[in-house]
Amino acid sequence: MKNLMKHSYSYILLMAIVTFFACQTEDDGGGNAATTIVPSFELTISEQNPLTINVVNTSTGANGLTSFWQFRQGGPLQQDVSGSATHTYGASGEYQVSLIIQGPNGNVEISDTVIVDDGVVVTPPVANLKDATNSFSIGMAVQASRLTDEHDEILKSDFNNLTAEFEMKMNIMYPSQGTYDFTAADAIVNYGVANDMDIHGHTLIWHNSVPDWVENFTGTDEEFETMIEDYITTVVTRYSGTIRSWDVVNEAIEDNTGALRNSVFRTRMGDDYIAKCYQFARNADPNILLFYNDYNITFDTNKQATMFSIVDDLMAQGLIDGVGAQMHIDIYFPSASQIQSVVNGTVSRGLKMHFSELDVRVNPGNDISQLTEARAIEQRNKVREVVEIYDAIPNQNKFALTVWGLRDSETWLVDFWGQPDWPLLYNNDFTTKPAHDGFIEALSN
Ligand code: G3I
Repeated sequence: MKNLMKHSYSYILLMAIVTFFACQTEDDGGGNAATTIVPSFELTISEQNPLTINVVNTSTGANGLTSFWQFRQGGPLQQDVSGSATHTYGASGEYQVSLIIQGPNGNVEISDTVIVDDGVVVTPPVANLKDATNSFSIGMAVQASRLTDEHDEILKSDFNNLTAEFEMKMNIMYPSQGTYDFTAADAIVNYGVANDMDIHGHTLIWHNSVPDWVENFTGTDEEFETMIEDYITTVVTRYSGTIRSWDVVNEAIEDNTGALRNSVFRTRMGDDYIAKCYQFARNADPNILLFYNDYNITFDTNKQATMFSIVDDLMAQGLIDGVGAQMHIDIYFPSASQIQSVVNGTVSRGLKMHFSELDVRVNPGNDISQLTEARAIEQRNKVREVVEIYDAIPNQNKFALTVWGLRDSETWLVDFWGQPDWPLLYNNDFTTKPAHDGFIEALSN
């Protein structure tokens, strides 16, 4: 499948529903996020008249604000008085349909394209992931050495949120006491800012990315805690205004037992190290979103229970805004209902859900030595299922769906499991796989 699909305009009898969303956080003047205007609208093509579109304003955070529709046929702005509108086109052409919300700090506008061709309105087929929806960010795990050439072209076309796969972890950014190295982190942040992409910070505290000097810290427990507070404060403050969300603690819970891991952080700072680290991050920047991130929290019920217990404790202190479910899955497992369970627990708490590290193994049983068409189709179906589950989340609880690597040859999974696999959305030659189509299909119905 080539990256750039040819637009073939044909009459679409089915209701083509496209949801568009951009996000503007308004502050209350005191630098604190007061309200978030989350504009979005749904566009359908009338089944009665192929030249008529119906639009429904599905924005949140815009109560009491004035909104307008713009259909770009030379007519005036049309005030949105009922939350919906219809518009019938005439002449053939390509038109932007826009929703404009008059926010306290200026207008917030989002648009989509419709094409009138041969007497019918169509919405052009979507080729790029980030164009398939704006109700959540489409994320990619990146490395500073892979921001050029074909990587650069695809990152810009498909994604609007970046996570450092390993270069924003403590072992990279704080290699020796008192000596920081932000070279790679800055490169990723600068690339994201230059290309209007959000950056998700991953991850401040993780037992698998502890520099040796921290693991073998020779000072007192109090000095250790002060060092961790200084580290979190230094990193979060450095990226204030560019990184607006962080995985503060990653994978603090043991598999199966649901017990708290015995990391150096727990040993030196006590069982309440988690709350302490979230407090350090909240103190450093009250405007960023703080996430807890872990794996297997869809089906490992003990782990999920402990996770939500930790989350509830953090919520009681106002220290958490979202949950990251990593989604390192395969074509057979976990089930849709297991995935839905972590979504339900997160949404019921009013938190944001991040599917933070999606990859979908096609060879968990190590029974194939190359990617077969059958397994590629099963992967497309699983990706479509996961994206449909994510897209069904209420807008206010959406955040991002992040894929953990671009090309199959760049996945961490092959080294980790010691067997071949093809878990991502792009072939090694940067062409899209059926899984990429499945991602878009999930957002097109
Ligand atoms: O790029 C350097 C290379 O120049 C150097 O020669 C080589 C040997 O030192 O290291 C290479 O960097 C490695 C990097 O992956 C890129 O391949 C690091 O050593 C290695 O530690 C790093 O592993 C990453 C791992 O987290 C630890 O940070 C993986 O890429 C990354 O996929 C993995 O991601 C984690 C998430 O953060 C948390 N959830 C689980 C997930 C998988 O373990």
